[in-house]
Amino acid sequence: MTHITSDSNFIQFYSPYSDNPQGARQAPTGAETGENTMTLARKMPMTKNSAELVYDGRSLELPVLEGSEGELALDINKLRQDTGLVTLDHGFMNTASCTSAITFLDGERGILRYRGYPIEELAEKSNFIEVAYLLTYGDLPNSAQLKAYSEQINSHSSTRAELKNLIQSYPADAHPMGVLSAVLSSMSAYYPEFLDQDLSKEKMDAVMSQLMAQVKNFSAYAYRVGQKKPLVDSNSSKYDYCSDFLHMMHGGEVDPEVARALNVLLILHADHEQNCSTSTVRLVGSSKANLYAAISAGVSALWGPLHGGANQAVIEMLQEIQADGGGYKKFIAKAKDKNDGFRLMGFGHRVYKNFDPRARIIKQACDTILAKLKIQDPLLDIAKGLEEEALKDTYFVERKLYPNVDFYSGIIYKALNIPTNMFTVMFALGRLPGWLAQWKEMVESKDTKIGRPRQIYTGPITRNYKAIHER
Ligand code: ACO
Repeated sequence: MTHITSDSNFIQFYSPYSDNPQGARQAPTGAETGENTMTLARKMPMTKNSAELVYDGRSLELPVLEGSEGELALDINKLRQDTGLVTLDHGFMNTASCTSAITFLDGERGILRYRGYPIEELAEKSNFIEVAYLLTYGDLPNSAQLKAYSEQINSHSSTRAELKNLIQSYPADAHPMGVLSAVLSSMSAYYPEFLDQDLSKEKMDAVMSQLMAQVKNFSAYAYRVGQKKPLVDSNSSKYDYCSDFLHMMHGGEVDPEVARALNVLLILHADHEQNCSTSTVRLVGSSKANLYAAISAGVSALWGPLHGGANQAVIEMLQEIQADGGGYKKFIAKAKDKNDGFRLMGFGHRVYKNFDPRARIIKQACDTILAKLKIQDPLLDIAKGLEEEALKDTYFVERKLYPNVDFYSGIIYKALNIPTNMFTVMFALGRLPGWLAQWKEMVESKDTKIGRPRQIYTGPITRNYKAIHER
């Protein structure tokens, strides 16, 4: 029995595994399931276990479902219909909103895999476009598939004059995330052919490739406007995706070391299952709004400092510590003080409670790229000192707060000559294939329904309208 609400209301778990009262069974290995390269979200199979909910003298059996990595879920699809009850779950801490075959992450063990491939291997051996294909279509591409995919993206390399003009109409100090979100939404005005409720496979592929090309262009253009410099157009016949982006940002030739570092950063950001921005893309898309609207909404959700905006906030925090004399202990004390709103930015994660595997790779990449570019950044020393101190502190240890992906990424972006207000745009550029893959999976799934959570109303009960002179 896991939980008792009153003498007559409780949930009991039944398990055929006598040594394991909660019914959790060992995860089947990839070899056992043979399903590591599934491309479609599938129905989760039912386990032999179930839970019995007893409420108001009636009993309801809740099936226990199991994902391909052994994750267990209580199926409550019939809960409201059979009992009138809903569940209350602030911040969706316990709620799986969908099944998905794209990304697996295990926060306790610090595991992140795209379509079964460990993030460490992809960061070391792959490139961003190959990973984008993997996420979107379920498998690593062969040479012909990769060539065709790159060519399709490159066929959308030029940006319409109206959209360029729109980006240039913003003030130089406009935040590029706002510009990106607005111009993405504006695409709907110029591409009516991609606004149908149900796109054909060909149109779906075309609009996803178009977005891959255009988000790169919009991001670089927004940067140039911020710098009050003329726009540099894409030269995708000469450069690969990341090099083209760097060329559009800075003009001139591209340092291959810098392009490689950017590839790694974008791979690490490419998907992270049902986070705030991805859930937003799915939610907006579930109403059958067009893809431009869904991705624009994803950009807005990512902007916040508790999500993708943390990378900008980390650098600002490190600069603040530097300006204060570099004594990070004071800032650790501030982060622990419940009367102080300050948080250690780049620390903590909703899902990772051991370490963030992306942070480990980024920390190493940070050392490598700074050494290669012969850059000495005092912010890196402050970051390392801050991390070391925090990881010794019981406040952070007890709450399982570790550096997340954003803690070191800003230092690399800074080394790549990318200004602070562009950091979250870089995150968006990296996350785009994940958003596209998750949107595609959602629209192709027969289980998809419009996202519409319930609520528990806590306002006043019925009262009668009073004329204004009676109030
Ligand atoms: N600094 C200080 N204390 C923290 C921090 C932090 N960075 N993060 C969490 N805590 C504390 C909370 O105050 C809380 O303490 P309490 O139990 O005494 O009340 C406890 O740790 C749990 O924190 P929650 O906010 O409940 O955890 P949640 O899972 O809701 O939040 C989040 C996760 C938003 C990432 C949080 O850790 C945070 O704000 N971190 C800083 C911002 C950041 O780096 N965001 C990027 C996340 S990664 C990404 O989105 C790409």
